[in-house]
Amino acid sequence: MQQKILVARAVFPDVIDRLSQYFEVAANQADHVYADQELVEKMTGMDGLLTTGSERITAAALAANPGLKAVCNMAVGYNNIDVDAATRSGIMVTNTPDVLNETTADFAWALMMATARRITEAEHWLRAGKWVKWRYDTLLGADVHGSTLGIIGMGRIGQAIARRSSGFGMQVIYHNRSRLTADLEGRANDAQFVSKEVLLRTADHVMLVLPYSPETHHTIGAAELALMKPSATLTNVARGGIVDDVALIAALRERRIASAGLDVFENEPALHPDFLTLPNVVLTPHIASASESTRRAMANCAADNLIAALCGTSPPNLLNPAVRRKE
Ligand code: GLV
Repeated sequence: MQQKILVARAVFPDVIDRLSQYFEVAANQADHVYADQELVEKMTGMDGLLTTGSERITAAALAANPGLKAVCNMAVGYNNIDVDAATRSGIMVTNTPDVLNETTADFAWALMMATARRITEAEHWLRAGKWVKWRYDTLLGADVHGSTLGIIGMGRIGQAIARRSSGFGMQVIYHNRSRLTADLEGRANDAQFVSKEVLLRTADHVMLVLPYSPETHHTIGAAELALMKPSATLTNVARGGIVDDVALIAALRERRIASAGLDVFENEPALHPDFLTLPNVVLTPHIASASESTRRAMANCAADNLIAALCGTSPPNLLNPAVRRKE
């Protein structure tokens, strides 16, 4: 009998066609966002799932579907999936690393530069008809070239961001769970490993690229924001929840830091409404990996993982290899 899979959200139609060559596919091309219980029901009887970062795959959802063999996430982050529970139930979990590194690094730079140079604020001001004369101090921002870039989370995306900084004559400092090898530091524009406190006190532009977990929840809160320079910017392309949004709103409102560029939010897609009232924040809707070719690569990578997982070979991006060892 053909194995059954659920593709939980809309994806490129040719990826559905590809998966249909292997499986009976329940697709959701209408892109209905399933509520938790609805998703559990849709998962019933499925051998595999292709999810995005928006679906919560909880221990309860996994327990309700004992026949499930694989959950393949179309995202590098996988904090939406209870991987420990999946491992206990013998369910493979995969993600889509690497294919999005360079695209996400490009976007992180775009967001940091828009934030430092007040690009969206300037455009709103212009569109509102406020540009009636040149002035020496109109919309003054912070320089990016020659400044110090502080990266928290120096994985492959963090390193791709650091590499780009050499063209801007920047100094890179970073904080990470573990220090990179000297070779990797060299390739990341001679990045220098420092404590989080030194990074926050020193950096002109702080960039967050770390994975979300209970340990990284509110890595940046009121105490950390208080360490930053009043002229500094904060850019988050990682996950909502790494920053305490309420504390950030207060810091931006009181100009305790200059500005922030945010692609991710606590409770997204719902935004804290106060963000919309602040001029010194650049807001984007979780699109750091959203180039045509990279989103295609991510969808195909998730499909590759699902095909491998259900066809008996080891998925290229298996996050819980203990499952296969148990087989
Ligand atoms: C996007 O946020 C991802 O984790 O791929």
